[in-house]
Amino acid sequence: MIRFGIIGCGRISHRFMQGLKAVEGAELTAAWSRRAESVEHFVTQYGGKACASLDELLESDIDAVYIATLPDTHAFYSIAALNAGKHVLCEKPATVNLAQLDEVLRVAREKKLLFMEGMKPPFFPLYRKLKEYLETDPIGEVGYVRAGSSVADLSQDHPNFSYELIGGG
Ligand SMILES: NC(=O)c1ccc[n+]([C@@H]2O[C@H](COP(=O)([O-])OP(=O)(O)OC[C@H]3O[C@@H](n4cnc5c(N)ncnc54)[C@H](OP(=O)(O)O)[C@@H]3O)[C@@H](O)[C@H]2O)c1
Repeated sequence: MIRFGIIGCGRISHRFMQGLKAVEGAELTAAWSRRAESVEHFVTQYGGKACASLDELLESDIDAVYIATLPDTHAFYSIAALNAGKHVLCEKPATVNLAQLDEVLRVAREKKLLFMEGMKPPFFPLYRKLKEYLETDPIGEVGYVRAGSSVADLSQDHPNFSYELIGGG
């Protein structure tokens, strides 16, 4: 059984719990967030211990930590969890620059622990099938890629639009 501790009890953590409930061999053991109300609300719904501090969470009987805070704190919490001997599954983006990522990976290797970014597409059946097709029937050299993103239901004060909180593209 992999016992998870959660750092950051916001929107995506609730979705994580919907997924975790369907996974055999993994369970929520403890949670901590910046505000006590968030943690209480979370453990009332999903169980586990509500921790009053990061130290309390990292000292709990957990094997792995799921980090779902905003990107500006991912590196800090990842390194703290790795140094406490916990495997880490960190929300995307894992870090906000290469120097931070290098440091997180250095600590993970030193401690011989898993560090993984919560990037879902590689596991989607559709993407796996697409990869299979591209390997057997390549489309040739890529000449042009155009990508876009539109999230219409967020208010302008959402962290995604904040430069200080490393909002998205
Ligand atoms: N994999 C995916 O498909 C996916 C989808 C959406 C988002 N994400 C990623 O998931 C992360 C969270 O996104 P979200 O939409 O869940 O955001 P959110 O609803 O704002 O939740 C973030 C939570 O982190 C906590 N937090 C923020 N700053 C903190 C800090 N300095 N220390 C401790 N806790 C802190 C907040 O806790 P309090 O409530 O206690 O203040 C908040 O509940 C982002 O990195 C985002 O890119 C991934």
